[in-house]
Amino acid sequence: MTKVLILGAHGQIARVATNMFLAESDAELTLYLRNVRRLNGIGHPGRVRVIEGDVMDAESLRTAMDGQDVVYANLSGDLEGQARHIVAAMKATGVRRLIFISSMGIYDEVPGQRYDSILDPYRNAANVIENSGLDYTIVRPAWLNNKDEIAYGTTQKGEPFANPDAVVSRKSVADLVVKLALTPHAEMRSSLGVHKN
Ligand SMILES: NC(=O)c1ccc[n+]([C@@H]2O[C@H](COP(=O)([O-])OP(=O)(O)OC[C@H]3O[C@@H](n4cnc5c(N)ncnc54)[C@H](OP(=O)(O)O)[C@@H]3O)[C@@H](O)[C@H]2O)c1
Repeated sequence: MTKVLILGAHGQIARVATNMFLAESDAELTLYLRNVRRLNGIGHPGRVRVIEGDVMDAESLRTAMDGQDVVYANLSGDLEGQARHIVAAMKATGVRRLIFISSMGIYDEVPGQRYDSILDPYRNAANVIENSGLDYTIVRPAWLNNKDEIAYGTTQKGEPFANPDAVVSRKSVADLVVKLALTPHAEMRSSLGVHKN
């Protein structure tokens, strides 16, 4: 049974992914979020543990990491600082697998587009993760919507981002996250663009 720690578990993609993990796998989930009262109606009490905490709280994060197989980070805000805390806690606890949600545009991989300083936290976080030595996969979605569809493709770092003007569903990104988390060795040390297909 894979043990998955979801950081920022009240995030929109994270909530879709949580439901998919529960419906489609026997993974054991630890939901880590800043305000647990927000999480209503999550069933499967034997398989779900909920921890109230901030990713910037090193001690709480280390406690949550202990014994996990996979860390899935679905965060916003000070992503570079968050990435540093996550990498440090993973090294301290010996957890190696990290899936980290970033954004399209961090490598200037979108033909004809430059996203300037607005993406710096995403770029800097990716840099921290790529230099961590951990078994990471960075996920770089296109613009997101909440459509009830799974329709996506991926591109690798170094390739132009495919179909960048189309909006991809959060459900598609969640599908990719679940596959990455549950498939041993999938896309290790890679950074995937996720586009609408
Ligand atoms: N919108 C788009 O089209 C688009 C496109 C590509 C990429 N992205 C990026 O993809 C990422 C995930 O998307 P999403 O829609 O799932 O985002 P979201 O709903 O904004 O979720 C982000 C989560 O991060 C949590 N968080 C922030 N700082 C935290 C901290 N210090 N400790 C613990 N939790 C913290 C927030 O918690 P609280 O609930 O407590 O605030 C929130 O639940 C975001 O970074 C987003 O910017 C977005």
